[in-house]
Amino acid sequence: MPLSSRHLLGMQNVPKEDIQLILDTANTFKEILDRPIKRVPTLQGKTVVNLFYENSTRTRISFELAEKRLSADAVNFSVSTSSVSKGESLKDTVKNIEAMKVDMIVIRHSVAGTPLMLTKLCDSNIINAGDGVHEHPTQALLDLYTIREKIGKLENLKVCIVGDIAHSRVALSNIFALKTMGAKVSVCGPSTMIPKQIEELGVDIIYSIDEAIQENDVLNVLRIQLERKAREYFPSIREYVKYFGINSERLEKNKKDILILHPGPINRGVELASDVADGPYQVILQQVTNGVAIRMAVLYLLGTLN
Ligand code: CP
Repeated sequence: MPLSSRHLLGMQNVPKEDIQLILDTANTFKEILDRPIKRVPTLQGKTVVNLFYENSTRTRISFELAEKRLSADAVNFSVSTSSVSKGESLKDTVKNIEAMKVDMIVIRHSVAGTPLMLTKLCDSNIINAGDGVHEHPTQALLDLYTIREKIGKLENLKVCIVGDIAHSRVALSNIFALKTMGAKVSVCGPSTMIPKQIEELGVDIIYSIDEAIQENDVLNVLRIQLERKAREYFPSIREYVKYFGINSERLEKNKKDILILHPGPINRGVELASDVADGPYQVILQQVTNGVAIRMAVLYLLGTLN
């Protein structure tokens, strides 16, 4: 069965069958990443533009590698070297890029809803690579893939998302996708960083990090988004570390076995101590590796729908 949509804008309302299909397809592509020649001709002749209006290391390089592994023509756009710096609007920029006959656009933008707007302007398949504080669907998919790979299931698994929930597109995409796949989802963080309506999404709130560690199989620990003024939501970094920072002493005191995810980039010494960020419970670099396979799956499934 093909995917039910020709765009990937978020994980809200994405059916279970689509998530399952993407995760299973990524399994096939992950095997290609271990070959000496990491390339298949699947998207030969297709052109993908990576339109990043916000900084990125993992997502941008991961999409570019995924496109190249599938033999698509990958074109990178950066704001600082484009005519955006001369005042060209997003709409004009996208119309001009599409006039060059591209097939797919991967977009990261600080304004929530930008990928949806592009679907009204363009014929290309649109993939959301992170829009403001709204959604980051491929991050959620690679998180689910990594959890399933390590634990073997998602259904009835207890997953807690920790930290700056209010400013996190990763949190929202994870909540939608995990709930669809039958996981039990909670959030943990300072009350000022937990949106008031979060429980309406079927999510429990835990205010104690020790309880979150004791009660859950997986912690997905988020970055404190200092660039989105997150610093104003708690008295000091020191206090955040004291009440919500995860270090190995805290893990060992509360539980012997838990999986720790982090989408990156990490504020070392804030949400994660270095002994956890590099320690035995975390799967942070496996997430990054799996991100390429997930993005190959998404590009393949959307690119072959047309
Ligand atoms: N996780 C993530 O989106 O990282 P980048 O901002 O580096 O892409």
